[in-house]
Amino acid sequence: MLSNLKKLISGKANIEPVLSVDIGSHSIKVMEFDPRKEEPTLLSAGIGYTPDDCFHNNVISNPELVGKAIRNIVDANGISAKKVVTSVAGVCCFSKSIKTGVQTLKELRNTIPFEVNNYIPHDVSDVSLDFQVLGKKSNTALDVLIVAVTNEVVNGYVESIKAADLEVVVLDVDSYALNNMFEVNYPEEGDRTVAILNIGAKFTSVNIEEKGNVLYRGEVSVGGNLYTKALSEALGINEAEAEDLKKGKLPDGVDPELVRETIERTSEKVAIELERQVGFFWDAIESKKTIDVIYITGGCSLIPGLSEELSIKTGVETKNLDNFRKIGGLDSFEDSYLKQIGPLLGVSVGLAGRQIADKVNKF
Ligand SMILES: Nc1ncnc2c1ncn2[C@@H]1O[C@H](COP(=O)(O)OP(=O)(O)OP(=O)(O)O)[C@@H](O)[C@H]1O
Ligand SMILES: [Mg+2]
Repeated sequence: MLSNLKKLISGKANIEPVLSVDIGSHSIKVMEFDPRKEEPTLLSAGIGYTPDDCFHNNVISNPELVGKAIRNIVDANGISAKKVVTSVAGVCCFSKSIKTGVQTLKELRNTIPFEVNNYIPHDVSDVSLDFQVLGKKSNTALDVLIVAVTNEVVNGYVESIKAADLEVVVLDVDSYALNNMFEVNYPEEGDRTVAILNIGAKFTSVNIEEKGNVLYRGEVSVGGNLYTKALSEALGINEAEAEDLKKGKLPDGVDPELVRETIERTSEKVAIELERQVGFFWDAIESKKTIDVIYITGGCSLIPGLSEELSIKTGVETKNLDNFRKIGGLDSFEDSYLKQIGPLLGVSVGLAGRQIADKVNKF
């Protein structure tokens, strides 16, 4: 998918800009890229808080409110584009790689719904399905990745975008977008085995990739909320104050040493849990190799010392990922703004690389 981002925003002068919108449980991220430029070139980027209590069991239960929050970000950044590429959290989607007989895309569209009945824990009429041909296994078999998301989850995202007076043209999955982003920004890592951890508020998406192919995708229930809770309990402050504290605003009367200790203790717990879960995922791959490097991104990767702690616990070199590494147009933005927002925008950068009908029919 490396070429997708470039394709979407290259050359053709009449391509409409597409917005990428990442709706997380803590924050909503919106980005707009310049469709006239050869290289991925940023026009606008804005972030806002996700209104409280808008998600129930990972379903957006108040699309009106989420839509308003998206609209506020779009207006605040003077964005006029209407078409949106967005993604559901990996935890909401069921994916499986299956084998089918060799057939055309048109035939696959008819046969996949019958095939998936054997693999998904829902009635096929209750889910939205997508698939991608991964390769030709032999002269008689194809490897096909199927992805299913319940209609309830899909509707929450589509209705939220509609409520912002925008239109969804592609609905992706967070971890797939992350893979796109990494291929664009780190082409030289294509030869190594890499784990990419997008550490958000509620979840961490884990992608383990080798030579650009994703060997494993998984979600771990670990994220910035653990720090918010720990700080609020240890310091006797409310969660909103704890959120501000994480971003550097020390409330009156709070002991900075206790803050440091609480953050360190939480980072240790987070690192232990991530090490354990990534270890499970790695065992499931049954590879004889080792992970060469871990990259972390997501809002929680901004916690000072977390990458060092993860490196100690895993014994693997751990780096903070630069989501803007190969992105142009950054000169128009303040450095401090880019530093603050960059780590939250991994999924959004990856989403910009998705196109309608992004499937290759080679068979
Ligand atoms: N400067 C910062 N320092 C520490 N933590 C931060 C900082 N900025 C944001 N965070 C934390 O990052 C988390 C939000 O990150 P992100 O936007 O990636 O999550 P999300 O996509 O909303 O969540 P999820 O994907 O889990 O639903 C929050 O826990 C927030 O407190
Ligand atoms: Mg997220």
